[in-house]
Amino acid sequence: MKISVIGTGYVGTVSAACFADLGHEVICVDIDKSKIDRINAGIPPIYEEGLSELLKKYAGKRLHATSDYDFAIKNSEVSFLCVGTPPDPRGNIDLGIVKAAGAGIGRSLGTKKGYHVIVVKSTVVPGTTETVVLPAIEEHSGKHIGEFGIAMNPEFLREGKAVHDFMNPDKIVVGSMDKKSADLVASLYQGLKCDVIRTNLRTAEMIKYANNAFLATKISFANEIGNICKELGIDTYEVMKAIGRDFRIGPHFLNSGAGFGGSCFPKDVKALIGKARETGYEPELLNSVLEVNEKQPHRMVSLLKDKLGSIKGKKIAVLGLAFKNDTDDIRESRSIPVIKELLDNGANVSAYDPMANGNMKKIFNIKYYGSAIDALRGADACLVMTEWDEFRSLDKEFDVMEKKLVIDGRHMLTPGKDVEYVGLCW
Ligand code: UGA
Repeated sequence: MKISVIGTGYVGTVSAACFADLGHEVICVDIDKSKIDRINAGIPPIYEEGLSELLKKYAGKRLHATSDYDFAIKNSEVSFLCVGTPPDPRGNIDLGIVKAAGAGIGRSLGTKKGYHVIVVKSTVVPGTTETVVLPAIEEHSGKHIGEFGIAMNPEFLREGKAVHDFMNPDKIVVGSMDKKSADLVASLYQGLKCDVIRTNLRTAEMIKYANNAFLATKISFANEIGNICKELGIDTYEVMKAIGRDFRIGPHFLNSGAGFGGSCFPKDVKALIGKARETGYEPELLNSVLEVNEKQPHRMVSLLKDKLGSIKGKKIAVLGLAFKNDTDDIRESRSIPVIKELLDNGANVSAYDPMANGNMKKIFNIKYYGSAIDALRGADACLVMTEWDEFRSLDKEFDVMEKKLVIDGRHMLTPGKDVEYVGLCW
């Protein structure tokens, strides 16, 4: 089938490359010329494991990129909307980009002959596809639903593992208003071993939010229990390992520590809270999920102060700046509130991340190093913020510290006896 993908962020680019791998012809559309050039040259605009190989294989063959909406819509039968849905200043979802992309598709659709299905993949609050995207397409195309089809097909791709997750889904959700559109979208995934869950548009939108909100809730639950365990001298990781054996709970996303970050969980939970409030419902549980998450980074600094007293003028090494391992993405990273609090308290911060130093430089003017040992040299304490594999084996590196105090926010380390090791929740 011929597919166009609007928006070349990590969801758009990964979906485009994976659809090409499934045998489809794909056109990527973006207003950013530099991203278009990179994709056409087979170079990923972002880092994603496995993406480079796919782009190299299909760019210029089954995969093309352009900024020309008309060309993309006319040369495809189905368009995926994969644009960003950032938060507005109050934390609610900002649908400006989605609306603009809907209008762009609509304008091109107006002069196109033949049936076309528009599929919303962007994460949008329930009701958006029907009450925002559909009217924008109808207004700008002069066509009515039925002359074209619409569907909602949320993504469940983890950043960094998005290619793997696309090719090995545990569910494919297709929301639609009619069978014809749903059949077409479902057929695009033929070849993947997975059932397609068919539903209506707003249920598909809600499934995405409920999925992320539940995972975020699991993490905040693990952190709450972890904080209680810490007070009681219990290792919460032993507790979670045991409760994770209950098939109704499951072993994943129970790792307590500095909390969740990234461009999805914090934003999506806030957007769901905002949507719930619009209906007059106050979502107490979701409010608490965010509250627990906001407090975790401050608990890191509190532990540090308990150990060192005043941290004014002290050298504190922060290991890990990305919101999780294997990415350079620092959006909502838990290291941001930690570094801010350290600086507010007059500490000298030295930092190291295998991939994210460059991005964090745009926010904080602190000292950045090219290795953990360089950041640790002469430090009075070290805070571990991101679950990078290379931190697991750190041990002798702590010898270069002035005072060998390590506060672990990710349950990563097993340093030798001469290091004072403090776990955040264990
Ligand atoms: C998340 C979801 O996992 C994807 O399914 C979803 O498609 C994506 O959001 C999205 O909405 O687009 P992602 O943000 O890439 O994916 O990151 P995760 O791997 O889920 O991790 C999120 C955060 O939770 C990280 O900061 C991680 O350190 C933290 N985390 C994760 C914990 O603190 N504890 C855990 O047990 C697991």
